[in-house]
This record gives sequence, structure tokens and C-alpha cells, in this order.
Amino acid sequence: MSAMNQQTPSLRCAVLISGGGRTLKNLLDYKSAGRLTDVCFPLVVSSSPTAAGLQYAALCNADAKVVDRKEFDSDDAFSDAIYALIEQSQCNFIVMAGFMRKLIIRPEWENKVVNIHPSLIPSFCGTGFYGKKVHQAAIDYGVKVSGCTVHFVTNEVDNGPIILQKTVPVYSDDNADSLAARVLEVEFQALPEALELIAAGRVTVDGRKTNIINLD
Ligand code: GAR
Repeated sequence: MSAMNQQTPSLRCAVLISGGGRTLKNLLDYKSAGRLTDVCFPLVVSSSPTAAGLQYAALCNADAKVVDRKEFDSDDAFSDAIYALIEQSQCNFIVMAGFMRKLIIRPEWENKVVNIHPSLIPSFCGTGFYGKKVHQAAIDYGVKVSGCTVHFVTNEVDNGPIILQKTVPVYSDDNADSLAARVLEVEFQALPEALELIAAGRVTVDGRKTNIINLD
């Protein structure tokens, strides 16, 4: 079993985005409200030059960088460019916040990269399941409960150890937009909560399982 960050719990996070940046904005709002005291966000990297979320980087004086996936011919080359920025900014943790591209997880980054996904993994996840498609698939399947999952990222899509999940009901008159909005509300709680647990050294990883330990 490996304990995370128990010696040096402070998280210096690179936040990876691809689009609207609501997930990033929510993290910054938490910080402004005096939460996430042991977590900082010095770097925001967008995989797209037109990502609206880039505007939020200024709110936390983060360095905002674009690593445009279209300019790279492989996931490896794309990942190299992102890791170079992360090393420059001396980040020790990576948060995927609506990041829709593949980052190769190098061995030294194992259990130091988290993602939030808008379903209860292992349902409605993996390649092709992102954004509204996830919620439409959940509605089409007829599930009565959906939610979100915060997990460590591995080199298999949406397959890493689960840190926490939160659920919401699915109603018969839901559409992808209404369900997405309900799930986003719990996403806004789940990701900061997971980061606080990790920063406090309370998340341990054992194979594909995590444990939340009590330090009292
Ligand atoms: C969030 O709902 C997030 O869970 C989802 O994209 C949205 C990002 O919104 N992520 C995925 O679907 C990852 N597979 P944002 O860009 O406005 O933060």
C-alpha cells in the first residue's frame, strides 16, 4: 500500500482544461471562500486555444498556457509538451478539469493525476463518453441514479482508482441538459472534496482501490 503526500501534503496543481472551465472556476471559488487552503493552482493548460475557461486563469494569477492537441501528431508528443510546462511551474499534482484529450501518465505521475467524470464509473465512461453524451446515454439506458466520479488517472480511459463518487436522481422528464446541470452541482462538491482529502494525506491507494483514512 502506498500513502500519498503524507510527508509533504501541499498540492501545487496544474489544471488541464479543454472547454468552458466551469470546473476550474469552481475550484477558484472554493479557494476564494477560504477552502482548499493546502492546494494551489499556479498553472492552467488548455488543449484548445479557444477554450473559454482560459479566462479564469487570471483570477488566481495562474500561468495560462495553450498546448493545442492539433499541433502534435501523437499523444506522446502532446504529453511531453504538457509535462515540460508542469516541470517549469514545479507543480506536483495534475487536475483534469473538463480535459478531453489523452495525457500519457508517466510512472512518476502515477496517483498524482485526478480526473472528474460526469457519471458513476464504470457506467457511461471510456472513449467517446464525454460532456452531454454521457448524460444522454444514461437517460437512454433508463438508469434511475447517475452522478459523478473523481478518480486517479491511468493510461486506460476512465479506469483508475476511484477516490469518491456522488449520486443524483434521474427523472423521467430529464434531458441531457437537465441531468448535466444536476450532476454538475455534485461535481462542484466532489472535486474540491477529493483534493482536500489528498492534500491532507488522507487518500491511500492499494491496487485499484483507494482508502480514505482518518488521521485523528
Ligand atoms: C464536466 O461535467 C466534466 O465532468 C466533464 O466535462 C465537463 C467540463 O465542463 N468531463 C468529462 O466529460 C471528461 N470525460 P467545463 O469545461 O465547463 O469545466
